[in-house]
Amino acid sequence: MAARGAFNSRLGFILAAAGSAVGLGNIWSFPFKVGEGGGAAFLFVYLIFCFLICYPVLVTEIAIGRKTQRNPVGAFKSLGFRRWSIIGYLGLASGVLILSFYNVVAAWSFGYVVELIQGNFGIGKNFGTFITDWVTVGLYGCIFMGATALIVSRGISGGIERAAKILMPTLFLIILGLLIYALTLPGAMDGVKFYLVPDFSKITGDVIYSALGQAFFSLSLGMGALITYGSYVSKDQNIVSAGAMITLADVGIAFIAGFLMFPLVFSQNLGTDGGPGLIFETLPGAFEAIGPVVGVVIGTLFFLLLSFAALTSTVSLLEVPTSYVVDEHGVSRKKAVWSIATVIFIIGIPSLLSAGTVEWLTNFIHLPGNFNAETGEPAFTSFMDFVGIIANDTFLPVGGFLIAVFAAWVWRKENLNEELAQGDEAIRGSLLQKYIDFAISYICPLMLGAIAVVTILDRFLGIKLIG
Ligand code: PHE
Repeated sequence: MAARGAFNSRLGFILAAAGSAVGLGNIWSFPFKVGEGGGAAFLFVYLIFCFLICYPVLVTEIAIGRKTQRNPVGAFKSLGFRRWSIIGYLGLASGVLILSFYNVVAAWSFGYVVELIQGNFGIGKNFGTFITDWVTVGLYGCIFMGATALIVSRGISGGIERAAKILMPTLFLIILGLLIYALTLPGAMDGVKFYLVPDFSKITGDVIYSALGQAFFSLSLGMGALITYGSYVSKDQNIVSAGAMITLADVGIAFIAGFLMFPLVFSQNLGTDGGPGLIFETLPGAFEAIGPVVGVVIGTLFFLLLSFAALTSTVSLLEVPTSYVVDEHGVSRKKAVWSIATVIFIIGIPSLLSAGTVEWLTNFIHLPGNFNAETGEPAFTSFMDFVGIIANDTFLPVGGFLIAVFAAWVWRKENLNEELAQGDEAIRGSLLQKYIDFAISYICPLMLGAIAVVTILDRFLGIKLIG
């Protein structure tokens, strides 16, 4: 069997895992979900979910990985539960599907860096046209996937850890700089108010569903990305506190992203309900209003930030199938990486074409119960959104549900606790340990099971449970 890599340092592991977590989810979707969910009310629910439900799953994934020193499929086998390796296969499928369309959005972001550096603020108004230009976006996508593969091909410490150690501090500096700038804009405080003063009447079933899904996706849970990263961590490390730092970093960056988005948007009197278009359509207008030179700098930095965040996430998405092929099939890392990246790029082509280029992919499927709110006519879901519904909204919560049930009831809590105590004796018998036990046994399976059921009934069968 090929030698497995390992993280060189605790900081390296934390940065790499935080890099996986911090991504398009934090900077692209988090702010628009806050915008749709009534500002601070969404934020409040989101924070609770991150710490009370997601954190226990996060440390459990890391513990399974570190215990077995295996990829997500091999991990369950090596614990002696062959059948449960289905979780690993589901995770592989999720990783491949998510990366296939995530790379397309990353390509948009990278394309925006190129456009804004040239002062093309009009790109926001032309977003719809830009994303149908499949040759250009495809080329950016190729570059992005290539950069991802290059990093992963260099292995754990020489590739993933090294990239995280450069990209994460840079990302942090950029976001802090942008934050300071945004807060000094006239009218910034209205944005801050919208962001921070909760209107609890806005908390509906839909907001809760969306907040939990968002928290789970944002922490890269449910597909074994953290089992994989955990498998490269040494036994003397404290994974309980590392997990807390990863959660804090992820939540912190999302929080700051909102903190800089709303002042920017409010200061230019733009709406907060731009949905997925908030970043790509609304923001360039805000950069233009700032003025030619500063606007170019701020705009370019913003999309660079988004691209860096995406890159450390695509790296972790690619590492999951890579570690499987390397561990279980003895293929060399380089060969595995480049062939898997090529296959995933190809799987992503329909997503690339489903943003308006090809009609039948753009209006790919009519999901039951999905009608245009105004006209009552059937609404169609694009191929890309459809893959997102399958992977993000269905596979991840199902995977998370199974991981929690497995750890608590099959592998058993004593073993989980034993692994958590490796490198952290103080955890034994502590309140935190008792909470993790309780959450993994009851709260996590219940809540994650509930989102999976809601998704399946709501999206696939058209049975509305939440509104
Ligand atoms: N957490 C990443 C984000 O917020 C996405 C991701 C999900 C990465 C699952 C890896 C695994 O963008």
